[in-house]
Amino acid sequence: MTIWFGGDYNPEQWDESVWREDVALMQQAGVSMVTIGVFSWAMLEPQEGTFTFEWLDRVMDTLHAAGIRVDLATATASPPSWLSHRYPESLPVTENGVRLQRGSRQHYCPSSPDYRRLATRLAGEIACRYGDHPALEMWHINNEYGCHVSRCYCETSAAAFRNWLIAKYGTIDALNRSWGTAFWSQRYGAFEEVTVPSAAPVFRNPTQLLDFDRFSSDELLGILREEVAAVRTSSDTVPITTNFMGFFKPLDYWAWAAELDVISDDCYPDPDDPDAAYLAAMTRDLMRSLADGKPWLVMEQSVGAVTWRTSNAAKPEGMMRAWSYQAIARGADGVLFFQWRQSERGAERFLPAMVPHTGTDSVSWKAIRALGAELGKLGGQLEAATPGSVGIMLDWDAWWGIEQSGLPSTIDYMEGVRAWYRTLYDLGASIDFVNPRSDLGRYTAVIVPTLFVATGEALGALGAYAEAGGRLLVGYQSGITDEEGRLTPGGYLGSLSETLGLRIDEFFPLPVPGSVATDSVRLRANDLGVRDATGSVWSERLVVTDAEVLARFATGPLEGGAAITRRAVGAGHAWYVATLPDSWLRARLVAQLVADTSALTEAVAVTGVEVVRRGRHRFVINQTASPLTVPVAGHALALDPYGVVVLDGDEVWRR
Ligand code: GLA
Repeated sequence: MTIWFGGDYNPEQWDESVWREDVALMQQAGVSMVTIGVFSWAMLEPQEGTFTFEWLDRVMDTLHAAGIRVDLATATASPPSWLSHRYPESLPVTENGVRLQRGSRQHYCPSSPDYRRLATRLAGEIACRYGDHPALEMWHINNEYGCHVSRCYCETSAAAFRNWLIAKYGTIDALNRSWGTAFWSQRYGAFEEVTVPSAAPVFRNPTQLLDFDRFSSDELLGILREEVAAVRTSSDTVPITTNFMGFFKPLDYWAWAAELDVISDDCYPDPDDPDAAYLAAMTRDLMRSLADGKPWLVMEQSVGAVTWRTSNAAKPEGMMRAWSYQAIARGADGVLFFQWRQSERGAERFLPAMVPHTGTDSVSWKAIRALGAELGKLGGQLEAATPGSVGIMLDWDAWWGIEQSGLPSTIDYMEGVRAWYRTLYDLGASIDFVNPRSDLGRYTAVIVPTLFVATGEALGALGAYAEAGGRLLVGYQSGITDEEGRLTPGGYLGSLSETLGLRIDEFFPLPVPGSVATDSVRLRANDLGVRDATGSVWSERLVVTDAEVLARFATGPLEGGAAITRRAVGAGHAWYVATLPDSWLRARLVAQLVADTSALTEAVAVTGVEVVRRGRHRFVINQTASPLTVPVAGHALALDPYGVVVLDGDEVWRR
């Protein structure tokens, strides 16, 4: 298989004389694919209905002649100024009623019929012109859907939301029941009265918010579907992708992934962040999980610094290569960059590129060339992605639900996901993300950090997984409401109450960091081999009916009460964790969770080094700025700072 290597190419920013140099340099660097046309709408359709494809023909032909494949965009990410000028209602409106203007990008309302009609027509025209072009490798629909505008509160969006609600509820009575509008006199007499949840005096209706989140994710997905349908009228087999943005709250990527042939991701960890390596690994594992056997790509990463943080750290030498291999180890079939040639003008002119402003006599160009050359060699040998053996549950309904206001506490959904992922990562586990509808039977263990919104089926499936021999760990604030936001009757948890052998008597949320009270609670966890353990974020009074207590609260109002439990369930086990344990205690728990299983395929001998298996290859990656020596497969591998060694079986293939 080819490992795709290349980046976003924006030739329209340059004189044609530069294109020839571009292609020569691409060949030098081993570029195999470029993404073109992402922001080309104004150049391809300078006036409504007038298409100017000739320049793009020349770009496509030139790339083809050089043997470079094309990920061709439908060019719909940034509407041209004539569109916003002629159809001002296509501009999006914020929660506070401000209509966003053109002059930047992604300035469209996802429900705008004018935007959708014109975007779909353009996608169709492009597909018709290039569907049979020999350079075409895949279709790149739009770009980073929802990145800047994922929710629109204009009248058009409100009407679309009402239609979505009519399709979902059928009658206004059904909506009133689901939304609980008997509360605060919110009852609606007709669908016409319902609107989007714009800024309001205080807490808005939680079910309206949840439905609006679902609608907004669906609405953007609707544009993708329309563009895909337009492309498919003249190109029915070329694979389709759109670039995701990692753990992106506004879009339910489980639903999105089902529409794509290739999953792709834009990943920009902060080089200054000491947690960057594990956070990037987590994103790679999410993409492999979303792909579920299909190919996935890093569609964009940065050669060096970015320009959109408060301060933008450059990547130390080696880091770009290490992070590229990290993605490949975790299943990516390509690493591409934003962008090929650094712009001289425009809002991203300082953003580094494969061909930097300083030219080819630069450290970064040499690093790009070297990486392109090695990936070219590795490509022929690489096997398919290796799936994970421990599942972490990730669910957008739960994410949206637990981050509303008016709840018992302010909980950051991703804090729990990150914490459990980190523990598994540090232990060298191979990790997939799963959702409430996944086949959990493939996993040795499943961790549910929190599943605030959960259907009865989801809770039942977790219980059935444990019954059948699974090792299930459930965190606090799971099974708290159903999919309508209604509190799960009988003291929360639903059928999990029986699975876990306990019920919740009362919530005792811990103070959030920075508040007057101390934000952690001490735990007595001697049975887990940890002294002086602490928990944060959450605590609650549990009534344990049929479970072993592994840890108890040791301070505070719940002193002596159960904090962590375990119960034998059918052929498996179920743990419940009523707080966010500190990292030591999480490590003990995870060790217990995966004990006697093969989930820890690669014991990590040295902190800061990832050892990841992909088929017969093993990737040993030093994610630190220090040289390290790592024992793997009988070798004492000496790794440079950010060094990478690839093993083929037990043999060193490349260092
Ligand atoms: C995103 C976009 C690109 C570019 C980069 C800059 O990923 O898709 O067009 O703006 O960010 O980091």
